[in-house]
This record gives sequence, C-alpha cells and structure tokens, in this order.
Amino acid sequence: MNILLVGSGGREHALAWKISQSPKVDKLFIAPGNAGTSTVGINVPMSATDFPAIREFVLANQVTMVVVGPEDPLVKGIYDFFKNDPQLASIPVIGPSKEGAQLEGSKDFAKAFMMRHNIPTAKYKSISAGNLEEGYAFLESLQAPYVLKADGLAAGKGVLIISDLAAAKNELKEMLDGMFGDASKTVVIEEFLSGIECSVFVLSDGNSYKILPEAKDYKRIGEGDTGLNTGGMGAVSPVPFADEVFIKKVEERIIIPTVQGLKSEGIEYKGFIFIGLIKVNGEPMVIEYNCRMGDPETEVVMLRIKSDLVDLLEGVGQGNLQDRVLEQDPRSAVTVMLVSGGYPGDYEKGKVISGLDKTAGSIVFHAGTKEENGQIVTNGGRVIAVSSYGETKAEALAQSFDVANKISFDKKYFRSDIGFDL
Ligand code: AMP
Ligand code: GLY
Repeated sequence: MNILLVGSGGREHALAWKISQSPKVDKLFIAPGNAGTSTVGINVPMSATDFPAIREFVLANQVTMVVVGPEDPLVKGIYDFFKNDPQLASIPVIGPSKEGAQLEGSKDFAKAFMMRHNIPTAKYKSISAGNLEEGYAFLESLQAPYVLKADGLAAGKGVLIISDLAAAKNELKEMLDGMFGDASKTVVIEEFLSGIECSVFVLSDGNSYKILPEAKDYKRIGEGDTGLNTGGMGAVSPVPFADEVFIKKVEERIIIPTVQGLKSEGIEYKGFIFIGLIKVNGEPMVIEYNCRMGDPETEVVMLRIKSDLVDLLEGVGQGNLQDRVLEQDPRSAVTVMLVSGGYPGDYEKGKVISGLDKTAGSIVFHAGTKEENGQIVTNGGRVIAVSSYGETKAEALAQSFDVANKISFDKKYFRSDIGFDL
C-alpha cells in the first residue's frame, strides 16, 4: 500500500521511521516532511492544510491511507474533507473528524465532554465577554494559583498559571480582549491541580482501542523544569509512576468513557487520542486531550511499539482494531531534543549541522531541519531529537547525551536533565 503522512516535525520523522519498517508499505510519502523523513520516504512539497493539493496527490499516486501528524489539519476537517468526497471516501484518514478534533481544538468542548461522561478533571467554568462577572466570582471561590486557558488553539501558549487573584482577574479580562486572538474569546478557568504529569496515548477505531506506551515530556526550556514553555525538550517511556495499577485506573475511568462517550454522541474518531494526565493523590485526572500524538513523545513511543504500526492503523481504517496485536518493547526509550539557541524566543535558522554521521547507538529524528546545497541545516527551534533504547532509563539517557554532544550546530542547546524527576 501507499501511505501519505502529513506533517514535518520530529513526530512525523518518528512515525515515518516506524511506518517505513512495515512490509505492508510500498511507498511512503511525507508532506511536507523534513531532511530526516526523506531518508525513510519521499517528501512531497505540500502544506499539511492544503486539502485540494493533498486530494490531487492522493488520487495521482494511488495513496490508500492518510496518516495525520499535527492537529491543524484535523481541527480544520481533513477527515471530513475525505469522507465527503466520493473519490476519496474509501481512503482511510487516521485522525478524528472535525468534531472529534474539538477535544483539542476547544478546551470548553473538552471540559463539557468530560463532565457529561464523568471523566475526572479539574473543576472549571467557561467565561466569555457576556459573563465576565461570573468569571471573577469563580476565581474568588478558588484557591491560588489560578489556571486560565484560552479555549482555542494557541500554539501551546494559551495556558496561564497565576499566583495572585488580582492579576488573574486582570489576565482574564486581557485574554477575553484578544490576548490570543479569537482563541481566547472564551476562557476556561480551572481549579489548580497539584501532582506529577504523564501522557497516555490511545489508538481507537471508534469502537475498540489499544493503549500505546505512556510517556513523560519535559516542556520547560531550563533544567529543573524552569523557564519558558517549549514544544517539549525531551521525553521518556516507560514512566515508572504510571504502573499497572495506575494505567488500569486510567483505562477504566478515562479511556473507556472517552471512547464510549465519543461513540454514544455520534462523534467519529478513528485515530490517536493523547490524554494529558496528572496524578493527584494516586488518582489520575485529565489535564487535556490532544487529537494527535505528542511531540517529542512520539519519538519514544514509536521505539516502544514492537508490532507493525501499519497493521494497527489498517485495523483503525477497517474498524477491526480489536483483532490486531499491540506488543510493547520492554526496554526504556528516551529522547533528548537539540534546539536552536534563543528558542522558544527568537532564534536563527540555516545553521549547518555536523556530526550526523557519529550517531551510532541512537536513532536520530529530525524536527526542524532541511537540506540546502547538499548540507543539512537548522530550520526551526526544535532541531533534532536524539532517541535511544536502554535496559534502564539511565542507560538510554547516557547514550542520547553522548550523541547529543557529538552533533553540533551554532548555538545548539539541550537539557541534560531529562528524566531527572522520575
Ligand atoms: P495544557 O495546554 O492544558 O496541557 O496545559 C499546559 C500545562 O499547564 C499542563 O501541562 C500543566 O502543566 C499545566 N496545567 C494545565 N491545567 C492545569 C491545572 N488544572 N492544574 C495544574 N496545572 C495545570
Ligand atoms: N509534547 C506536548 C505536545 O505534543 O502537545
């Protein structure tokens, strides 16, 4: 079969790496991809949200499955675009319908969904310009710190955690006034939860599901989890505190009600569900849903899936996922992200990357890279994810740090404390 994978980051290189190992695949195309994905498939210069171009390409190249990496095309309705086109309708798109993608695209939608299905999550209230006073009153009823979330997609920046009540009221008003554009026309105010976080990934065909390996990511730029939030500076899997008992609770209280809730509401969801969790007094609660895999979590999750991913994705497309086998690799997997100096603020691009021939022992996924005049150069804030296996987390980390030191580009930075808190 021919597969088109949509996206261009480290997540997509990791997905492409895994997909390309399947004996079921003839051709793997990645749109638009990066310098790494071109080593395991064929890059196609096409934007992830240019649906008409994707349509033409799919029809011209006998593509029989589309796998969607990022949230943007999903929230914009790529699933529905295929379903409603007679020539495309029989081609499975791995990813939810536009409505299902609202689990990520609207925090208000996600919270209301969790309430309807008794899924444990923080207390909340949704506020827009019309009920600002209620927002102030709700903030007064909560203990500090205060959590304010832009309802819509805000490139991972839409969550504010504020320690002072007056400041929280102020920020609430500013958000409603357009701090994040239309994304914060509605703001979800949440009770603050205290605990340790991890993410669980689920693949669903709309009826049954498979629980993929869990992961913990490191979002802050600075060591010891300090400084600004980034897309993610590294990840580890497995997560020791997410033991069998914990995952069983997640399955019973969160995964089953989520999959059944989507089904009972007639929301089509054939794809990955990313459940951001926090463990509060031993009990799992949902911090957020995403309608796709995580980045850099995918760079460890793919290492820990032993089975043929394409066989599982085929099960999603055909609606018989329950008949497929998911075997996990018992080893530890970690990834360490090399980023451009200045990220997540301003940074320069186009720096030549060297040392990519000295990576033995690790699996190097490209995030923001491109090929220019025969050289690989930086093309984003997050540049390279150095992933490794180990019998232990420590062994895997030592391997990744060793390779992280051998790859160089001007102003390279990485966190050398990934996994420090586990
Ligand atoms: P989100 O975009 O919803 O994942 O939020 C980003 C980050 O903010 C999460 O990874 C948490 O660290 C933090 N966060 C979000 N909601 C809460 C909450 N209710 N209590 C404590 N921390 C939170
Ligand atoms: N690493 C967090 C995310 O992909 O949203």
